[in-house]
Amino acid sequence: MSNSSNKKVLVSGIKPTGRLHFGNYFGAMKQNIELGNSGEYESYVFIADYHALTTVKNGDELRKQTIEAVASYLACGLDTTKVILFKQSDVREVTELTWIFNNLVTVPYMMRAHAFKDQEARSKDVNVGLFDYPVLMASDILIYDADIVPVGADQKQHIEYARDIAGYYNRAYNIEEFKLPKELIMAGVENVPGIDGQKMSKSYNNHIELFCSDDELKKRVMSIVTDSATPEDKKNPDENNIYKIHKLFLNKEADEVLRSKFSNGGYSYKEAKEELLATIMKWREGKLEKYNHLVDNFSELNSLLEKNGGVACEKAKIKMEKIRKTVGLTNTF
Ligand code: AMP
Ligand code: TRP
Repeated sequence: MSNSSNKKVLVSGIKPTGRLHFGNYFGAMKQNIELGNSGEYESYVFIADYHALTTVKNGDELRKQTIEAVASYLACGLDTTKVILFKQSDVREVTELTWIFNNLVTVPYMMRAHAFKDQEARSKDVNVGLFDYPVLMASDILIYDADIVPVGADQKQHIEYARDIAGYYNRAYNIEEFKLPKELIMAGVENVPGIDGQKMSKSYNNHIELFCSDDELKKRVMSIVTDSATPEDKKNPDENNIYKIHKLFLNKEADEVLRSKFSNGGYSYKEAKEELLATIMKWREGKLEKYNHLVDNFSELNSLLEKNGGVACEKAKIKMEKIRKTVGLTNTF
């Protein structure tokens, strides 16, 4: 893989804070896989384990979840000959860059971040890592000279922060060091609903994991919340939770067929759930076995991470050398 090409640079990360679900997949992973695998970009996709430290306080848990996230990406088809898949913390330079950026942002500016405000509304005991989360994320993005950052809609503000921080640095040191990255948010998948109709999220426990057991999958799908419509009733697909989840898996023609089943009536919720279950089972065919195999043989994954971490690190080191010189951390004038 050539990584000093003229290709645009794609950077994206995912936090290993639990097993990944279909909200993560359709909201973020799928785009990373499709764009990365296209070979059109110099692509860096990482597992954001430094970011996970803001909430995960158990080393073995973090190690396990990191491996599960890597295995999920590979099982879902990420092509490692086209995408550098690595562990964020293998590039320690991002923490150094975070420190440099910390001195360019103000506390009031950081206090305007949605994630911080949401957290603070729940509890005043917000840790400094969480407060600083957007600066670490800006470092992740800017250190590799990212042009595009595919993310879910809830990450939009973080990319704005990365752009602002790039500008603060460039102006403070009067140098065009950082490019201004752009977010890439797929239309129609901003808000993948969970089994209760709210946004799918581990924190609401309404999620469907990509690689849970068949039994667990069945249990989750069969408990999707529905209204009291009878099987004969005509149902509006756009207001129906089963439909909203099912359509994510379908191409245009299959989607039309499903829509008419809902709107014609005579399609019971039981049948609708069974068909959704069958679709997800089909989606998992081959992937689930691959996932389980990878998790069981995680030493292979560790070698891949180590190798790729080295590649990402090389790029980051070159960037950091310039930055260290600009800000005055090197001896040479
Ligand atoms: P998180 O698990 O919150 O770290 O999310 C990882 C990525 O998945 C982010 O880019 C999110 O925007 C995306 N994501 C998580 N849940 C959803 C959802 N229910 N709908 C759409 N995107 C999501
Ligand atoms: N904050 C992102 C999330 O919760 C994960 C992330 C960390 C990220 N660093 C990144 C995403 C850099 C894109 C680019 O999903």
